[in-house]
Amino acid sequence: MESWKIEKAPSAIHAEITVPGDKSISHRAAILAGLSNGTCVITGFLPSEDCLSTVNAMRALGVEIDQPEPTTLVVKGRSRQLLEPSGNIDCGNSGTTLRLLSGVLASQPFRSRLIGDASLSRRPMKRVIEPLTRMGATLHAEGANGAPPLVVEGAKLKPLHYQSPVASAQVKSAVLLAGLSVHGRTSVTEPVQSRNHTERMLEWFLVEPHVEGLTVSVVGEKTPESRDFHVPGDISSAAFWLVAAAAQPGSRLLVTSVGLNETRTGVLAVLVRMGAHVKEIIKVEEGEPYGEIELHGGTLKGTTIHGKEIPNVIDELPILAVAGALAQGATVIADAAELRVKETDRLAAIATNLRAMGVTVNENPDGLEIFGGTPLKGARLSSYGDHRIAMAFAIAGLFAEGVTTIDGVECVATSYPGFYETLQRLVTQRTQEIPVIASLPAREK
Ligand code: S3P
Repeated sequence: MESWKIEKAPSAIHAEITVPGDKSISHRAAILAGLSNGTCVITGFLPSEDCLSTVNAMRALGVEIDQPEPTTLVVKGRSRQLLEPSGNIDCGNSGTTLRLLSGVLASQPFRSRLIGDASLSRRPMKRVIEPLTRMGATLHAEGANGAPPLVVEGAKLKPLHYQSPVASAQVKSAVLLAGLSVHGRTSVTEPVQSRNHTERMLEWFLVEPHVEGLTVSVVGEKTPESRDFHVPGDISSAAFWLVAAAAQPGSRLLVTSVGLNETRTGVLAVLVRMGAHVKEIIKVEEGEPYGEIELHGGTLKGTTIHGKEIPNVIDELPILAVAGALAQGATVIADAAELRVKETDRLAAIATNLRAMGVTVNENPDGLEIFGGTPLKGARLSSYGDHRIAMAFAIAGLFAEGVTTIDGVECVATSYPGFYETLQRLVTQRTQEIPVIASLPAREK
């Protein structure tokens, strides 16, 4: 087991950084390119374990994918006609791989068995089994309570209007991907808007999805048109550095080429409410919007994160909880029971680790109350095998007296190869000349 030892780094950060490609978008780019009718070059791809699980799964389904460099994929689409895999499809730690592929495989004329690691083998799959079964596929979860391995027997599917009980982009995407092969219209309505990368990418690949309020639909028997695609940097990865700078008065951080899709930028709105100054400039609108974030740190104050905002910040809640611990007053997270079924039970993991650092935390079924503002103390913590817990508490360690040890940090490779190197760079070279973007036209948050 690998561990990190983090020491307090009290001075302000002045830095310009880029972050690796967006994880959600990288998965979708590999899948949709593989279903398309020609060759697509994907640049900015995230070469993390999760996204490579998707690439290997598509290869196992007959899609030729070259990777001339880690962040570039050349994908030869199979016009939605995949090949029967010769063995299990290993999704590793990646829920996105397993759930999105279950939608793709629901219409293929063969049987596939999707497996994952110990963490993925505990995660709920009934949420995709239900709609895909209603569309006509046969799905069987071999684990307890609908957990993987998941066997998918593809069939000729029928249209469905699905009212999803959860705000989940993975469920929405599974149904829409299945809908590509249906004669007629398939639609999904979600209770609250989740990330819309699948809709945007279907649009890019000229499938013409229709979006009306919280409902997205596709008219099927449509093959995505092959086109090249650029994956911007992952704002969920940037969030760790944004919080590190936000909680340190005098810090100034510039993040470039980062995704600024409006269904993912909730973290910026939360940090502004907490007292950071944030400027966001969209430089490219097409496909997935991306640009720059400039953030100035301050003395943070607590806030409430709940309701419609939750799906927009779902992956940032561990690091926002750390921001809450560093802020004055109470930070309340509610309506976030979904965090209990992520790579680990994130509410329990956050509460346990914050308490070990001396923070008072109340744990509720759907959230946390964090009483911030008391100095953090270094502690020995577990990642619980969850990449975002490991990275969030590495940032907490920068603010804690003494040494913070985080055990089980290998999992960070699932989403952010290079995280630790960036952490060291920011800690050792805290002052860097960075260009001023304040004079450019901007959407001030
Ligand atoms: C993702 C959707 C979210 C998110 C996950 C990636 C995606 O999960 O937490 O990290 O790429 O669609 P849910 O769909 O379960 O909310």
